[in-house]
Formats: sequence, C-alpha cells, structure tokens
Amino acid sequence: MDVLIKNICCIGAGYVGGPTMAVIADKCSDIEVNVVDINEERIKLWNSPNLNDLPIYEPGLSQIIERCRGRNLNFSTDVQNKIASADMIFISVNTPTKKKGLGAGQASDLKWVESSTRQVAKHAKGNTIVVEKSTLPVKTAKVIQNILESVQNSVEGNETTFQVLSNPEFLSEGNAINDLEFPDRVLIGGESENAINALSNIYKRWVPDEKIIHTNIWSSELSKLTSNAFLAQRISSINSISSLCEKTGAEINEVAKAIGTDSRIGGKFLSAGPGFGGSCFKKDILNLVYIYEYYGLHDAADYWNSVLKINDWQKKRISNYVIDKLNGTVSGKKITILGFSFKADTNDTRESPAIDICLDLLEEGALLAIHDPKVNQNQIKSEFEERNFNENQNWSYNPNIIENIKESHAILILTEWKEYQSLDWQDIEKLMIKPSWVFDTRLITDHNQIKKTNINFWRVGEITNKETHSFS
Ligand code: NAD
Ligand code: UDX
Repeated sequence: MDVLIKNICCIGAGYVGGPTMAVIADKCSDIEVNVVDINEERIKLWNSPNLNDLPIYEPGLSQIIERCRGRNLNFSTDVQNKIASADMIFISVNTPTKKKGLGAGQASDLKWVESSTRQVAKHAKGNTIVVEKSTLPVKTAKVIQNILESVQNSVEGNETTFQVLSNPEFLSEGNAINDLEFPDRVLIGGESENAINALSNIYKRWVPDEKIIHTNIWSSELSKLTSNAFLAQRISSINSISSLCEKTGAEINEVAKAIGTDSRIGGKFLSAGPGFGGSCFKKDILNLVYIYEYYGLHDAADYWNSVLKINDWQKKRISNYVIDKLNGTVSGKKITILGFSFKADTNDTRESPAIDICLDLLEEGALLAIHDPKVNQNQIKSEFEERNFNENQNWSYNPNIIENIKESHAILILTEWKEYQSLDWQDIEKLMIKPSWVFDTRLITDHNQIKKTNINFWRVGEITNKETHSFS
C-alpha cells in the first residue's frame, strides 16, 4: 500500500529549500510543509509581512508565498518539533567546497549535511523518509544511512525507521519557479519502492509520469554532478571559441546559432559571457575532480579541471582587455560596472564573475561605480571583503544607472539585466569622459545604436577593428 505523506519538513531555507517547498505547498494544499533553518535572520525574512523583504528574489516566488504562507507553508527555527512531526524530511542544506583540512579547495564540506542528519536521527518519529535534496558526492546516501541507523540502534526500544532517497534539484536561479513547476525531469534514486512511490506521488500532482525518472541511488547522486559539469563545459567551450572569434572576425552569436541548430548539439547554454558563476558549477566540478582523484582517475580529473581553468581564463582576459584598451592603465579612472549578480533575475552573487573582474580592476587602481538592480551595497562589500579586499573607498554603489555613468571612462556590462538592454547611448555619450568605452560581456547592447555614437565599443566574441589575422 502506498505511504501517504501528510507532513513534510525541509531542513534548509535557502535558494533551493525555500522555492522548492513553496511550490510543493502550492501544488499540495493537503500537505503541511514546514521549512526550518538555524539562521534566525533568514527565517525572519521569510516570515516578513512585506514580500519585498523575502531573503531570495525569484520571479513568481512572492505570489506563491502570499498564497501559501500560514496556510500549509510555514517557516521556522523549530527544527526539533518540525522533524518530529514529519513523514518526509528533505535535507536541503548548503554543501560548499571545503575551506580547510583534507580535500580543502575541492571536496564538498558535508558538515551541515551531517549535523542535520544527526538532528533527524535524534528527533524523527515513526517511519520517516529522508530525501537528499542537496547536491552531494556520489555515495553520500551511505553516510546518511549509517548515521541514521547507528543513532537509531543506540536507543533501546526505538521504533523509528528510515528510508533514504536521492532527489537532486535541477532548478536554475532566476527561473526557479518555472523550473519547479515545469521540470524537464524529476530524478528519484533509491531502493525502497514504498518510499519512491510516496515521493513520486507528490510530484505526480503536477509533473507528467514520464518525466519522473527512477534510478539507483548512486546514479541519481552522480547524475546531478554530471549534469552541472556538462552545462559548465558547454559554457567554457563557447567562451574559448569567443576568443578565437575576436581574433578572426567570426561572430560568436552566429557560430553559436550555426552549431546549435544541429539537433545533436542543441541551442541552449551556448551564450558566451564573462564566465559562469553561481554557487553550483565550480563547487560541483571541484567535487567531481576530487572524486576522480580519490579513485586514482587522474586524467579524467584533469579533463574536468580544464573547464574551470577556461572559466578563470575568460574572466582574466576580460579584465586584461579593459585595462589594455584604457591605454594600459585604469589607475584613478572611473569605470561603471553594470551588473553584479551572477546572472539576471537573481540577487545571488555567489561566484559571480563580476567579483573577480571588479577585483582585478580595483587592484589596478580603478574607481568603480557599481550598479545592480537587486544586489545591495552590503552584499558587494562582503563579497570583496571575503576575498580580503578592504579598500572600500575605491568603489561606490548607486541604484541610479545614469548617476553612476556620469564622468566614467568606461562602462563594463557584466550581467544581462533587462534594464541595460534599452539604454540610450546617445544620451550616455554626453555624460562620459572622452575617449569613452563600452565593454559588453553579455552581448545585450544594441550594436546599431552604439555605432551612431563616438563611443568605442567591444562585445565578447566579436572583433573590434576590421583587421583580421590570416594564417596564409
Ligand atoms: P543556501 O546556503 O542558500 O541554503 C542552505 C540553508 O541551510 C542555509 O540557510 C543554512 O542556514 C541552512 N542550514 C545548514 N545547516 C542546517 C541545519 N543543521 N539545520 C537547519 N538549517 C541548516 O544553499 P542553497 O543554494 O539552497 O543550496 C542547498 C543545496 O542545494 C546545495 O547542496 C546546493 O549545491 C544544491 N543546489 C543549489 C541550487 C541553487 O541554484 N542554489 C540548485 C540545485 C541544487
Ligand atoms: C545551475 C544549473 O543550470 C541548474 O540546473 C542547477 O540546479 C544549479 O546550477 P544556476 O547556477 O542557478 O543553475 O544558473 P545557470 O542558468 O545554469 O547559469 C550559471 C552561470 O552560467 C551564470 O553565470 C550564467 O550567466 C552562465 N551562463 C549560462 C553562460 O555564461 N552562458 C549560458 O549559455 C548559460
């Protein structure tokens, strides 16, 4: 008989836990969904009456929160009691790269997964299905299972039982609600048929059967890392080609279109840019590399490492290009930075290419005027300080784009926010110091509009002057 889930607890109210549980609560009004976190400030913001204060910005999220919060969706710090009353528990905590100790700089730090699993072992009651939602190294389900069983066996008369499933999340930020409501697939790995059915039955409320894939637990864990590695690899591939376009006169968008129409390649994830950012790609590839090394598969580890190397190279060559075009020195020059989040439609700045590129320019003495529609000054400050850059007087933040641009030598577009696509370049030209430069790393500016001005103009993957190099 199918297990009926009436009460869900999600540990971790972050970029995954918050939106994922909001959508489950929205689609299953008969299930009580409790999202818990040890971060009191975050929970306070999830409960804020002002929906603009939610800790995460995602298009469509606030409308769902408005519908479900207080109905069957609750956010709290009461980890113990919410675990105790749950039939199904999602572990959706952070799994960043380890900063010190064995595997530092590569392996995932599983301390939050372990501590939340111990809380589950301690407080869960009855038959409980534990779902790995976090992205985890292949074989972590075994660690979770061991912890649950050993704590369980140490208490005499304990009748709690656990089944562990892997159900990785594939949402991408800025598009999370759409990805959750219309996923390409839902992946469930595990051994217990009852547990798999219980979780599948939740998704079946809105996801077609054929999109719900069942695999063994290790395939599920490894598929998540592999999926991110393949996506990141495409971006490094197209970025590497963008550099060749700049030398030869080929145009990266034309090349991407031409290759993307081959159905074996496909058109998505072929946008050249300043390098990929976000909390997942780098961390998950590093983790994959670590696992390869652990099993002695060094050449395969090198292969995936090169995806990261090209990403760093792309960021570096962009900052070097800007410096070169501003006569080899940016010292004391004002440069306007448009966009700080790692992609549009999110306030997330984790691993944003803007961080490294801005720091390169700041190291060279540039004065940066930074704009982003969703990222605030404190967040930018903490990203810089985390990388030991404390000279905060050398950059400023202003929510008004035009005020930032005044008296700038150059504008550097780093995120593809909509508001940067319709700028009036003829007006902007009047505000800038001559000779002025616009560097567009996202290919969002209107080429023909800028051509009408005297602004010097560069877009990633396109040649600046008409001199092409020939090998003949
Ligand atoms: P996040 O840092 O935004 O959120 C994690 C939350 O877990 C934090 O608020 C933290 O306080 C909380 N937490 C940690 N330990 C806890 C504990 N013991 N009890 C209660 N709360 C605890 O992280 P995220 O971006 O939501 O990512 C979560 C996982 O999902 C990671 O493994 C990540 O790789 C994966 N993932 C992320 C994305 C994404 O787009 N961000 C997409 C797919 C998968
Ligand atoms: C990624 C995966 O897409 C998602 O499936 C997974 O669950 C989490 O990691 P996310 O990092 O949120 O999602 O965003 P994504 O759209 O993948 O973009 C990642 C980075 O790649 C961004 O910096 C983006 O600007 C960049 N990118 C993306 C490109 O440079 N070119 C592209 O064609 C696509």
